[in-house]
Amino acid sequence: MDFVRLLLVFLHLLGMGMLVAMFFIQRRVGANGPLNKGWLHGSGLQLVTGVALIGLAPLTGRDYDVVKMGVKLALLVVLAGLVAVNLSKKQVATWLAPTLGGLVVLETAVAVFWR
Ligand code: HEM
Repeated sequence: MDFVRLLLVFLHLLGMGMLVAMFFIQRRVGANGPLNKGWLHGSGLQLVTGVALIGLAPLTGRDYDVVKMGVKLALLVVLAGLVAVNLSKKQVATWLAPTLGGLVVLETAVAVFWR
């Protein structure tokens, strides 16, 4: 069962990498250029793998901090919500890409420093 957890962590880290890549791709299309669909796929992957890791915790023998996971989930809901609302727009606000990038950095900081 530990292999399944490691596979999910592996995909979770690839999802994080994808979101960081999206931030730099966004810079190439300009400050208010349309959002790349990769934002949606990356945040969806983080949600699915994160929730699966928590759901499988009784089987993988992990004991995750409920408050920490709640904060991670809340940050992702904000991130994915901003992405969903803006995805079909031809022009987005200039603060959007830096905010999405900041949320990814914040998620990573919560994941690593909250022990
Ligand atoms: C942009 C969103 C996210 C990023 C960048 C992110 C990043 C990370 C990183 C870097 C780790 C590894 C930490 C370490 O091992 O020291 C991690 C672990 C984890 N994340 Fe996330 N995360 C995100 C969203 C979520 C969400 C929404 C959930 C679920 C609510 C979640 C649940 C978990 C769990 C359960 C682990 C522990 C895995 C383990 O070691 O067994 N993550 N995350």
